[in-house]
Amino acid sequence: MAMHLFTLLGALSALTATGYALTCTKCMALGGDSCTEGLNDTCSSNQVCMSVYTVTISGGKPGDFLSRSCGLQSQCNRVGSFSIPGKVIKMGITCCSTDFCEPKLANLPSDNTQKNGLKCASCETDSDPCKSDEKMECMGTENKCLTRISKTTGGFPATSYTYGCTTKSICDIQNHTISFPTFSITGQFICNSGPAIVSHGSFLIMLSVFALLIKLI
Ligand SMILES: *[C@@H]1O[C@H](CO)[C@@H](O)[C@H](O)[C@H]1NC(C)=O
Ligand SMILES: *[C@@H]1O[C@H](CO)[C@@H](O)[C@H](O)[C@H]1NC(C)=O
Repeated sequence: MAMHLFTLLGALSALTATGYALTCTKCMALGGDSCTEGLNDTCSSNQVCMSVYTVTISGGKPGDFLSRSCGLQSQCNRVGSFSIPGKVIKMGITCCSTDFCEPKLANLPSDNTQKNGLKCASCETDSDPCKSDEKMECMGTENKCLTRISKTTGGFPATSYTYGCTTKSICDIQNHTISFPTFSITGQFICNSGPAIVSHGSFLIMLSVFALLIKLI
């Protein structure tokens, strides 16, 4: 009996020491909502198999993009959106945790055209900071101002900055990277509750300090 227990404990500790690495399919589908052929991605211990599904609605036309890879478990089960004038990008992150499992795609949020009172800086640019001082009115649950930095490395390296309104669920992603042997794509999501309003405020303070100085001189 004692011997059996010892053997069992030995086997258990051997299992945990070796660890178990989940393997996921790594692929991308531009303009589609499924990809099954790809590379094998070996996850680290805090990762599971993840699908990041985005639908960009621009000028009424939707465009799909799907990427699958290992991803941080803490980023799973998330749907949200971000907007700039004339464009809404809906995003859903879903996960599963068996070898080569295919996460079921998220149901993306429906449109919401109710203004929520927040105004955010809005622009799309390939050089930061955003030069335009255009602002947009946020809708529905998009109650955070977003700066998204997209970076592509490899053959066609590029960085772009998108400013607009977003849902908190997108802010909480913080970073997502998918790497292939010859290139990688990173999205960084930085949020606050309204840089436009803050900078407007400090601009007003600056103006009044300036006015005061003029009066004093
Ligand atoms: C991925 O792993 C599976 C199962 O281990 C294997 O059959 C397949 O050949 C691998 N594919 C690649 C591209 O390495
Ligand atoms: C996100 O990426 C940026 C730039 O690569 C890095 O500085 C930051 O630490 C990352 N944040 C997280 C949470 O991984």
